[in-house]
Parts: sequence; C-alpha cells; structure tokens
Amino acid sequence: MYTLSGSCPKWLEQRINAAGGIISFHNYMEIALNDPDHGAYAKGHLRIGREGDFVTSPSLGSDFAQLLSVQIIDWLHQLDQLNVQGLPLSFVDIGPGEGDLVIDLISAIDAASPELLSKLQFILVEVNEGMERKQRRKLKDVKKIPIYWRTLEELSLNPVYGILFAHEILDALPVERIVYFKEKLYRQGIKLIKDKDKSTIVSTTLPLTQCISNSINDIANELQLEIPLDELSDGWNSEWHIELFPWFKKVFNSLIQGPLLIIDYALEFRRYYNNKRNSGTIIGYKEQNVTSNILNDVGYMDITSHLCIETLYNFAIKSGWHLIGECRQGQALLSLGLAQRLHSLQHLPSNELKIALERREALLRLVDPTTLGDFRWIAFQKNNTFNDNLNLRNLFLEEPIV
Ligand SMILES: C[S@@+](CC[C@H](N)C(=O)[O-])C[C@H]1O[C@@H](n2cnc3c(N)ncnc32)[C@H](O)[C@@H]1O
Repeated sequence: MYTLSGSCPKWLEQRINAAGGIISFHNYMEIALNDPDHGAYAKGHLRIGREGDFVTSPSLGSDFAQLLSVQIIDWLHQLDQLNVQGLPLSFVDIGPGEGDLVIDLISAIDAASPELLSKLQFILVEVNEGMERKQRRKLKDVKKIPIYWRTLEELSLNPVYGILFAHEILDALPVERIVYFKEKLYRQGIKLIKDKDKSTIVSTTLPLTQCISNSINDIANELQLEIPLDELSDGWNSEWHIELFPWFKKVFNSLIQGPLLIIDYALEFRRYYNNKRNSGTIIGYKEQNVTSNILNDVGYMDITSHLCIETLYNFAIKSGWHLIGECRQGQALLSLGLAQRLHSLQHLPSNELKIALERREALLRLVDPTTLGDFRWIAFQKNNTFNDNLNLRNLFLEEPIV
C-alpha cells in the first residue's frame, strides 16, 4: 500500500508521543495548520499572494473584490430595504487570510455607495493568531467603517443581519482520510518512527470511528449513493469532511437572516469518490509549488482539500440553509462584469501599459477554467420568521450581459 512519509520535527514528535505514538490524519492536519505554537496559519508562516506560498483570487489585485462588490452591494441594498427592525448591516468574512478582500471590498463599496457603507460593519472570523495579526496590520488605517474580530461562538450568541462570506476557508478545515483495504474502510493515521537520532512520520491505518462510520452511512442513505463507489483497489484513499456539518450549524446560528456565499474548489460526488481518483484531492502548497507529500515541511506548508458538492449541500440543508444556487467562478465573474472590465483596459493611457497588462493577466487567471475559474460559487440563504420568503435577486447567477 502507498505510504506517505516525512521528517518529524521535535515539537511534532512531542505532540504525537503525548497522544500515544499515533494520531489521526485529521489531528495531523489540525496541528500542521492551526497548532498555536507551530501551525502554518497559527504562526502566520504562510504567505498568500504572488510572492508568497500560494495565490487566491483576492490576492491577485483589487479586480476580484470590485467584481464581487457588484453582488455584495446588490444583496446589501435588498437586505437594507427589508430591514424592518433597523438592525445593523454586517458583512462577515470567515477566514480572511491576509485581509486583501476586506480592504478592497470596503473601497469598492465606498466608491459605489458611501451611504450604504455608512450603514455597514465588517466582521472578521479568524481562528489563527498569526493571520489575525496580519489582518489587523493591513486594516489599521481603515477608519470609515467599524471592523471587528469575532469567533463563530460569539456570533452565535449575538447573530448578525447581513452577508456571510467564506472564500477558500472550507478547504482549510481539517479532514479525515478514509482508506480502502480488502473490502473495508479504515481511517488514515500518522505514526511516529524513531530511528537513532532521526524521527520520521509515516501514514498508517486505524479503525474507522463510530462517528465517521455513522456520517458515511447517513450520507450514503440520504444521497442514495454507495460509498465507496465502484470497484476500488486496495490502498484507495480519499477525504471525509468531518468538520463541515458542525461548521454549517455554527454559521447558521451566527446569522439572523441573509445569504452565505461559499467560494471554493468542489467536485461532484461521482468525480470525488471515484476509483480513478485513488488518493483524493489533498495537496500541499509551499512557495508556489504543489506537492502530494503533505507530511513534509510541517508548519510551513499549506494543506488543502476540495469539497464534495452533494455532501456539502446535504450538511447545509440539514443545518437549516436554503440553497440559492451554484456556478463556476468564470461564469459568476462574467455575470458581474468581467468582460466589460477586460475591454475597458484597452482605454488606459499608454503610460499605464504595465498596470493594464498585469490586470489583464489577473482577470484572465480569475476565469481560467483550469485554475481559479473552476472554483464553485455556492450560495445559501437563511430565512427568518419576520421575513420567511426572502426572495433575493442573485446577479452572479444571471446570464452575463454582453
Ligand atoms: C486559504 S486561507 C484563505 C484566505 C482568504 N479568504 C483568501 O482567499 O485570500 C484560509 C484562512 O482561513 C483561516 N482559517 C482556518 N480555519 C479557520 C476556521 N475554522 N475559522 C475561521 N478561519 C479559519 C486561516 O487562518 C486563513 O486565514
């Protein structure tokens, strides 16, 4: 069976020893990204952007936030009109990374409608201190609008009225990995091996827990799908998104009413749990390089996995959300005016040629179907008794204007 291995730093050795010599993959991913003393996000080691470890759409420049703002402003105007109780309007960015989107979105809303901006508060939900530090630094000069940092637990106690936004955060939630061997499913574990002065970590198999087993059976029954699908070979492995259902419940409780927009890589169930995809979608990023060996560079590498569309819908709807719709990023951004924006670059003065070329390149990357253009925009909404049939207009799902 294919085994992953990597060198084990002292601090991780202590963590694994404290747990008895083996931890689950889920535990490993949690430690690698979010361990307060050594995690890649927790310490702020990971840098998002062209010069960093990986790019995200907001980190490529302000065009992404400006295009997104067309939808956000329209939703905010609609919510403002329905706001019979005079509640503060909120935009909540969950997992804000370097804070690029927040700063550019505030500018875009200010440029389009200062009056709307004056009614708005921004709330950032960030679990990692190292990333929060970067966000506070980036946003320290923004004075036009209140910005708060809150946990989902705090928001659940004091829910807000507005928009929840989750861009490339669900792919950072630690996953379990399931492994198929001799007609049975197992859970992937990470084992410490000590050899003289060298410590290594290697993947191993552990029994499935009752909790994972129940979650897989529930999805199989509710979606009428076999898990695993098709004939699998021994060693086939994939991810199971064990944190997603509790996450949807928490965000549901954080909102009084409004939409939740998720933007992330996602695959249909049949493409995800397929015998040809024999090691899931998990991948590591460091200094713009992609690797499948996610046991190396612990604490300095991003680890991420795609989402499964049907399981995501299932968890969301069971938590109370209503599906608005879904499309690929390429289509969403065209609907919000990307083609016109590309066209307008032709009219920039010749001394701005360099800027025009950079923006053109960024805009094309945002819609490139082999990379960022393949992201899914998935929107849900929460209704409430004071306005049970919230009927939002959703510009990103409309046909692009040409
Ligand atoms: C891949 S980055 C995405 C950053 C940003 N949204 C972007 O697209 O540029 C993931 C971000 O989510 C944060 N994060 C990870 N787990 C989280 C959680 N459970 N709740 C909130 N933020 C989380 C990370 O610290 C990091 O800031």
